[in-house]
Formats: sequence, structure tokens, C-alpha cells
Amino acid sequence: PGCAVEVVDEIDSTNSELMRRARAGRTGRVLLVAREQTAGRGRLGRGWVSRAGESLTFSLGLKLAPADWSGLSLAVGVSLAESLHPQVGLKWPNDLWVADRKLGGILVETASFGEGAAAGRYAVVGVGINIAPRPETGLSTPPAALQDLDPAVTADTALQRLGAPLLAALEAFEAYGFTPFQARFNARDVLRDREVQLSDGTAGTAHGVSEAGALLVHTAAGMRTVTSSEVSVRPR
Ligand code: BTN
Repeated sequence: PGCAVEVVDEIDSTNSELMRRARAGRTGRVLLVAREQTAGRGRLGRGWVSRAGESLTFSLGLKLAPADWSGLSLAVGVSLAESLHPQVGLKWPNDLWVADRKLGGILVETASFGEGAAAGRYAVVGVGINIAPRPETGLSTPPAALQDLDPAVTADTALQRLGAPLLAALEAFEAYGFTPFQARFNARDVLRDREVQLSDGTAGTAHGVSEAGALLVHTAAGMRTVTSSEVSVRPR
């Protein structure tokens, strides 16, 4: 997709690897794909489990210099959802959802490099997507899988579909920020008009995202602009 592609069988975490490289001064554009991760990381310090051959697991590393970083991970979600399938929705801030279950997640990290005029930031955009459905255990609702929507899809064909548009989306984000992604996010927003609860306990109705990618929630105390919180939704 317009950058070097590296595929490995096993690694601790594709994000951790590209962050290590960036700290060591290796800041080239690269797409690192792993069949398996032994220490996959999710947002908010959580883990992320991918299954060999049944998940798509990769990180894209590139230098980025947007005027404003807010909304980057949401823009990534928009691009992925649009490339994958019309029925892939977005749960703020950047989970991919299908029918109220999680299909995939995004973890964006950045590292600074260089000094003075040569200084900049390297972005590591990590993506994990469930491809094959997980066997039902009865213990908990299994997450969504891309094959629920498209039985013929594999990790390889999904990556072929989303790689180039993702790189293009990151370049568009660098040039124009989140603005061109706002309406596209809102068109796939699964929380829209639903009752949500914020991690501080506040309840309200979700009303899409702002131009900066904040979640707008109508609460008893008025409209709240949520920039960092966890949002849960009551099951339908
Ligand atoms: C989340 O939903 O909390 C984000 C999950 C992100 C998982 C991907 S898998 C590839 C990359 N490497 C990691 O360790 N994490 C991301």
C-alpha cells in the first residue's frame, strides 16, 4: 500500500515493536503484520488477544505532522469501516462494531524523534480485527467476526482491501485534520440516539461527534462534549 510490508509469524506486539524501532531512530514507513502476538495491547492498558490465522493483526508506522492530532484514531476507524463492509459500525472513540458486538480495535501511539528543526512525531497505528468467528463457549457473548458478514474474507484479503485506503486516510488527516471524517464517522456511529453511560456514571443520549472528534452526549445537565471517557451502551 505504498510502504514496506513486513510479515512475521510471532511477535510480542506489533505496536511495541514499531515503538521500539522509533525510539531507536528507525522512523521509516512500514506495515508490520503478525500472525500471532504474545503480548497484544489494547487501549486503557488492556490486553488484546489475536488468534493465528483467525485475526488480522498489524501496525502501520509513519511520520505524521498534522496541525491538530485530535480525532486521528477516529479517522482510522472511519477508513477501516468504509473499506471493510457497509455493515461495519463505529463505537466511539474507535472500536469497530457489528450488530452491537466488537469486531476490532485500534491503538494509536506516537513517539517523538529527532531534535531541533529535524524533530517530529512518528505515529504507530495498530489494528486488530477478528476474521473468523470464535467458537461459542457459553461463558460470554463471542465478539463479532468479519466472516459473519462476508464468509469468503481472510486476513490477507481484508488487509489488501484496507491498506491503501488507510494510508490515504492518514495523509488526508495530516492535511485536513478530522473535519473531512466527521460526517463519515457519524454515518456509521452505532451510539447515535442511544442511551449511554459515561465512566463517571453520567447517563445521557449520544448525538454523534464534534468537528474535533469529541462525543456529544445530551445529559440532564445539558450537552456534554466528551473527550476521554469510556462509554457503555445498554444492550437493545
Ligand atoms: C482496543 O480495542 O483496545 C485496541 C486493540 C488494538 C489491537 C492491535 S493488534 C495490532 C496492534 N498491536 C497491539 O499490541 N495492539 C494493536
